[in-house]
Amino acid sequence: MCESRVNAPDAGQRGETTRILLDCDTGIDDALAILYLAGLEGVSIVAAGSVHGNVPAPLGALNTLRVLELAGLDDVPVAVGAARPMAQPLQTAEFVHGEDGLGNIHWPMPRRRPSAEPAAQQIVRLAREQPGELVLLAIGPLTNLGLALLLEPELPRLLRRVVVMGGAVYRAGNATADAEANVWHDPEAAELALGAGWPLTLVGLDVTMQVSLAGDALAELQAASSAVGRFAWSILQHYLAFYESYYGARMCHLHDPLAAGIAVDSSLARYRRTPVHVELRGERTRGATRGSLPWWLNPPSGEPEVEVAVEVDAERFVRGFLDVLAGARAP
Ligand code: RIB
Ligand code: CA
Repeated sequence: MCESRVNAPDAGQRGETTRILLDCDTGIDDALAILYLAGLEGVSIVAAGSVHGNVPAPLGALNTLRVLELAGLDDVPVAVGAARPMAQPLQTAEFVHGEDGLGNIHWPMPRRRPSAEPAAQQIVRLAREQPGELVLLAIGPLTNLGLALLLEPELPRLLRRVVVMGGAVYRAGNATADAEANVWHDPEAAELALGAGWPLTLVGLDVTMQVSLAGDALAELQAASSAVGRFAWSILQHYLAFYESYYGARMCHLHDPLAAGIAVDSSLARYRRTPVHVELRGERTRGATRGSLPWWLNPPSGEPEVEVAVEVDAERFVRGFLDVLAGARAP
């Protein structure tokens, strides 16, 4: 249960609640992001939708229900989203997140089932019902966002803000040398989302690769006694083993939790406004995300711009993350 919640910096200070509409491919770091949001004061998860990516969309929805249940959020509806990308075959990443998407810990089935509504339709319905209220936080491939934009062209004017974990604008990718995984899973959807003209903050590898759990931070999480802390530590084992085999060090990045943190407290990062496009035709670079360089090299194009996070206060974020996940009175 959510016994204690840590103050979410700017939402809490303003006395407002950040109302999150989540789109996720619940694997390990998605699960950590959900638990982190659930433990923050001044944050409300209004609904969630799953999408293909780390695991198939139906399993992603069940994992999202499992994690919401652990966090005591049994009233948050979860819709199943797009089963595959718009223009390429389905690919999933069980080698990173486990066959069950949660580090192969074989957590029990959730009490609830996903709602009947497709995730893209849920996005459109809730945006129409609560115009200007919702922050759409996308921490998986962007297929549901692309579909929602095709269903409702007014969507960019119906959402308060969109925060996307994705892309690698001024640095190398992680799925390929050029492409970040969420964009790589559905480049066409990413191009639609990045060019939609809504107030979009892009939390890409440019900043998520600066934020990691290692050494003392891992030890603090390992020592957690709460149900949430113990769950987080157990699902991390598979993730840490992947990182150790891939990067040669027992550590991991917090891609999705950082995007969640920035959705609640934008002061965690600094940004560069630029149009961002996705390479769709490059035989070897498909899924790359490229922004402009300083204006004197690329005069303003008049195209829709996004806010690319380019620097982050990693220490402040990790401290806040651990206060929730490992906190003595964590949910
Ligand atoms: O590149 C990192 C992203 O890909 C994260 O959202 C992770 O969950 C995977 O989906
Ligand atoms: Ca994800």
